[in-house]
Amino acid sequence: MRARVFPDYEAMSAAAAHAVVDRLVEEPSAVLMLPTGTTPLGMYGRLVEMHRSGEISFSEATFFNLDEYLGLLPDHPASYHVYMKENFYGLIDADPARIFVPDGAADDPEAECERYQAAIGEAGGIDVCVLGIGRNGHIGFNEPGAPFDSRTRVVRLSESTRLVNAGDFEADRAPERAITVGMATIFESREALLLASGTNKAAAVAAALEGDVSESVPASMLKKHPNTTLFLDEDAASDLGRGVAS
Ligand code: F6R
Repeated sequence: MRARVFPDYEAMSAAAAHAVVDRLVEEPSAVLMLPTGTTPLGMYGRLVEMHRSGEISFSEATFFNLDEYLGLLPDHPASYHVYMKENFYGLIDADPARIFVPDGAADDPEAECERYQAAIGEAGGIDVCVLGIGRNGHIGFNEPGAPFDSRTRVVRLSESTRLVNAGDFEADRAPERAITVGMATIFESREALLLASGTNKAAAVAAALEGDVSESVPASMLKKHPNTTLFLDEDAASDLGRGVAS
């Protein structure tokens, strides 16, 4: 796992977008796995700009999202379906037949998890997995304690994650449960890019990069991954090298 530190959020986002585009230029039919949240918005913005200026087409790529809240219809404004449509999929030339987001409103969530996992397998696995990181070190919605051998499944969100994400919902909390791609599937990605911005991610970044590999810090699993790059702004990197990670 290597870290690249950029002066600010814009520079970090641009570099991450370029890393994705470089991969797609090499392999236009690459399979991408993508996150939602605040952090990747700058990267999506740059990717959309590059698409509009004719630098890149996404028409042959396949897209999987990492997660979705359980119980939200795909048109719920806080759903990750809507987020992705508004910030990325709806603004590029992606083929709708090759866009996959877990169905949080499925009648049988367990069957939906199996279907989603099978779809990833049928696509040949993930070429590039783009990740954010939670303040508690989560990746996808794999909260601390998530088994490293886990696959797509229904998970319970931690109280801290629900509070952080509460602003997207009218009630004061995010849903209790979500569907997430598991740790083993993330680990099997041929390349992983983890993006982090801001001082509120500094401790999690330091724990992942400098602490022990442990299921209590999910992102630390990536230390064992052969091709992971952290894209950090200076704030997110501000706890590195201080020996504060346990
Ligand atoms: C969301 C996801 C989460 C976020 C993480 C950071 O799809 O996979 O792991 O990446 O919670 O969220 P932000 O970027 O909002 O700080």
